[in-house]
Amino acid sequence: MIKKIRWGIVGTGRIAHHFAIGLGALENTEITAVLSRTKAAAEKFAEEFGISGKHIGSESLASDKNVDVVYIATPNPMHKDDTINCLKGGKAVLCEKPFAMNCKETMQMILCARKRGLFLMEAMWMYFFPAMAKVRQLLADGAIGEVRLVQANFCFRKEWQPQGAKLNPALGGGALLDVGVYDIAFAQMVYDKAPLRISSMAHIGKTGVDEQSSMIFGYGGGAMAVLTCAVRTETLFEAAIYGTDGYIKIPHKFLQPDRIIVKAGQKKEKEIKFKRLGNGYNYEAAEVMRCLRRGEVECPIMPLDTSIAIMKTMDRIRQQGGLVYPMEKK
Ligand SMILES: NC(=O)c1ccc[n+]([C@@H]2O[C@H](COP(=O)([O-])OP(=O)(O)OC[C@H]3O[C@@H](n4cnc5c(N)ncnc54)[C@H](OP(=O)(O)O)[C@@H]3O)[C@@H](O)[C@H]2O)c1
Repeated sequence: MIKKIRWGIVGTGRIAHHFAIGLGALENTEITAVLSRTKAAAEKFAEEFGISGKHIGSESLASDKNVDVVYIATPNPMHKDDTINCLKGGKAVLCEKPFAMNCKETMQMILCARKRGLFLMEAMWMYFFPAMAKVRQLLADGAIGEVRLVQANFCFRKEWQPQGAKLNPALGGGALLDVGVYDIAFAQMVYDKAPLRISSMAHIGKTGVDEQSSMIFGYGGGAMAVLTCAVRTETLFEAAIYGTDGYIKIPHKFLQPDRIIVKAGQKKEKEIKFKRLGNGYNYEAAEVMRCLRRGEVECPIMPLDTSIAIMKTMDRIRQQGGLVYPMEKK
């Protein structure tokens, strides 16, 4: 019999809704608890998704015996404490991206999970789309030869809301943490290592966060990645991998791909399409449940060392751009 996995959700915002809808596409699972800062939000979310358990405050969900795994969907600066609270309560955790504000926080979360032998994963949902699995397979098979260049752009124009999560430093705003993390995770996936060299430029806007950042990574032997991210400039969200013997292009929106374009060797360019099941968040949730059922404490597709590598890279970029958050100045 397949074990039913019971989820708790921390935060009742935009992405918590998407994730809860994604879970609805899966079998042998249910949401048994939701944690909010307010009774009204907990009740509304619980009613929408048919959840019996409702919690207010920080620690009650962590000790809920009806929860196997907690999905953390709070603003970036809360990820570390919310994750550690749940781990201390003996829960497995899937925490939204960026995993934390910086590498120091990331290590605290990971040490807590490893000490307790508990499952922990960053919710890098992009990695779990079937199209992205196909990209990894093509690279492993050497379909495009040796990778020489990776490109990725994830830039959107958010309206001017200085207090909102995208621009507010107190909520961990800024392009790099919000969307640059996808570009970096993509390059990390392709090269399977952190860059040796980083050359970056950040435009720090009026609120004190990067409104846009550009990055060039060097991996040795001339292999590069060229990445851009923004929260006040719109581009298509496209990515490409160029090798010595062909290329793979991932059209808009590359982070949630349903098709890829492949040119392998002398063959003609080919489009490969994938049928999406659910809203896409179900793929990462299904992988978490597979790991839990098998007693795995890390996901082989998104292991904790990958989160460390991504976060170290972001720390280096932030250092170059002079991007320091208020909670880091204390
Ligand atoms: N994977 C993806 O596709 C994706 C997309 C967007 C965002 N994200 C990530 O998911 C996280 C949440 O993003 P979101 O867009 O869902 O944000 P959001 O709509 O603002 O929701 C965040 C929720 O966190 C809770 N919260 C706790 N402390 C808070 C505080 N001090 N200020 C505001 N909210 C607080 C709130 O729920 P209560 O009121 O119930 O406490 C709020 O609704 C972020 O880390 C973000 O980077 C991921």
